[in-house]
Order: sequence, then C-alpha cells, then structure tokens
Amino acid sequence: MDKSYSQKISERQWNLPDKGEMESRREETFIDDIVQKDHLERQVLETLEGGGIRTAFDGGAGSGRFSILLAKRGVKVTHFDISAPMIARAKELAEEAGVLENMDFVQGALEDLSAYSDGQFDLVLSFDAPVSYTYPNQEKVIGELARICGKKLLLSVSSRLGTLPYLSNPIQKSQFVLDDSTADPFARWCIDHKREMTEGFHFDIGAARRLMRDGLMGGEAEIAEYERGGAPWCITYGFMPGELMGILERLGLRDVKMSGPGAFARTVPHEILQKIMADPKEKRDFLDFCYEYDQNPYVLGMGKDNLFASAEKSLKQKET
Ligand SMILES: C[S@@+](CC[C@H](N)C(=O)[O-])C[C@H]1O[C@@H](n2cnc3c(N)ncnc32)[C@H](O)[C@@H]1O
Repeated sequence: MDKSYSQKISERQWNLPDKGEMESRREETFIDDIVQKDHLERQVLETLEGGGIRTAFDGGAGSGRFSILLAKRGVKVTHFDISAPMIARAKELAEEAGVLENMDFVQGALEDLSAYSDGQFDLVLSFDAPVSYTYPNQEKVIGELARICGKKLLLSVSSRLGTLPYLSNPIQKSQFVLDDSTADPFARWCIDHKREMTEGFHFDIGAARRLMRDGLMGGEAEIAEYERGGAPWCITYGFMPGELMGILERLGLRDVKMSGPGAFARTVPHEILQKIMADPKEKRDFLDFCYEYDQNPYVLGMGKDNLFASAEKSLKQKET
C-alpha cells in the first residue's frame, strides 16, 4: 500500500462540505457520542482544576467541542484542523459562545507541527482519533504533540480492541441512535439499512485477525475509491493499550493514565440506553458511573471506540 495516501484521503473526507455541521450535532444524535464526549470533557475539566493551564493546542479540533470549552474557561486556544468546513463551523460556534478572542484558528495537518516550539502550550489535546488518521506517521505525530506540550497531554485515539466488534456487528451505530424519529441523515441511514446490513452480513475471521494483528482499517479499496474521485473513510490505525502506554513512556512522559470511554455503555441494550437518556437524573447518574467504570484498567481497551490517555510532561523535559 502506498502510505502517502492517508493524509490525502483524510483531507478529502473531512473537507466534505457538510462535515462541520454533521460533527457538531453528534451528541444530539448518538448516545455513544454523548458518553464519549462527556468522558473527555470531564478529563479536560479535571486538568483545568489542577491549575496552571493558560494556553492549549487542540489538534484535530473539529467543530470546537473542546477548544470552545477551553476558551470559555479563559484558556487561549490554538484550534488546529485539516478541514476548512470544520473550522468554519467551529468559528460560528465560538462566535455564538462569545469566545472568538480566545481562539486562534489554523488549517493544517498534524503531520507537520514544525511551526510550533518545544513546550509552547501548557495543554496539548487531540480527541476522537485525529492521530489515528495519520497512519503510518502516528507515532511521530504523538512525539510532536508531546514536544510542543509544556505540562499536560490528553489524547484519544482509535482503539484496536474497541473497534474490532464493528467487524461482527455492522449495525452497531444504530444501537446508539438517541431518537428513532431523528432527521439526521446518517442516523436515518443506520435505521433504514439495519435489516439489509444484518441480512448481508457474514463474519469474516480473516478480516478480524488482520485487524487484530495490524491495527489497520482501510487500505487498497479506499485508495482505489479515492483515485476514482470518491471520498472514502480515512485509513485508520487502531492502537492497543500497552502500545500507546509504551509510546508515551518512551517519550519520557510521566503519570500516564488511560481509559476506555464507552466501554460500559456498549454493553447496555438500545432501548435501555434510550430510556436512561430520557430521564435527566438517570442520565446524569449513568454518565457519572460510565466515567468511573471506563477508567478501570481491565476495560480500557474496550472503549467505543476510542482509547484515552493523559500524561504529564516532566519538569526535566521542559528544561531541556
Ligand atoms: C472525529 S473529529 C474529532 C473532532 C474533535 N476533536 C472532537 O473530539 O469533537 C476528527 C477531526 O480530526 C481532523 N483531522 C483528521 N485528520 C487530520 C490531520 N491529519 N491533521 C489535522 N486534523 C485532522 C478532522 O478534520 C476532524 O475535524
């Protein structure tokens, strides 16, 4: 496989005109997104409680779910993303929130962070898999994110173990539709194609073993589609927990902590999830419990489908 395709494919996929709009409405549409973003938000807020965070770099910041949260709390944020539609949507939302003056919007690829200096940002975050779309440069990109980080690094990448169940459950996203009468085009597609997807499904042990071994989703078929002018889903690299931990430790980061946002929620049937989400108190309790359960080291690989890690930049590293 020609590896230079990852960035080109990601760029075309994320620059589709409706991407910003669709991504900004995910938590109105899908329960797994509510759980995942809630987990990540709690991690961000806990980081801010520790104090000393004045600047942040959000790599693959999308429609601003976390960059705007940080800006609202007075942090100066560099909102960095490969996609113009995502940045345009983030700017609209930042303006609505009245925090434009705290934000700097940069269109760029994580594969090149040479514009930024060592330790430039107190907090560096990259959430919901942007690093996984930089295959085969994912390890170098994590190294660069760690280099520009001054104090705290927060990452969520695609989880290999957490993604594998998709291969034996093509209707998995429909399990998380919040409201069956939704007009969201992707959610509607999931609902309307559930039967067809189920009937057409056959378990492919070879594909499951390949993903388990290589961590790679996508390849020649996506490249061919791209060459035909299409916009296939990104070639995505899924990390194993020990692998991500090893990369962060080899970079000299300390106090590495990991979790699997969504591990608990994926075990709960759709009807029950919908019922819990409809009751504000139960929803709050459920999200509180998900946050606790999903930080248990025994489940962290089964996040849906992200693997989260936080790490500290040591004082010694900052001085060198
Ligand atoms: C699933 S969205 C996550 C957005 C946001 N971080 C969040 O958690 O809500 C992934 C984002 O990564 C961006 N992205 C993908 N590949 C990238 C790359 N190579 N460099 C920078 N951004 C990239 C996409 O444009 C998209 O906005």
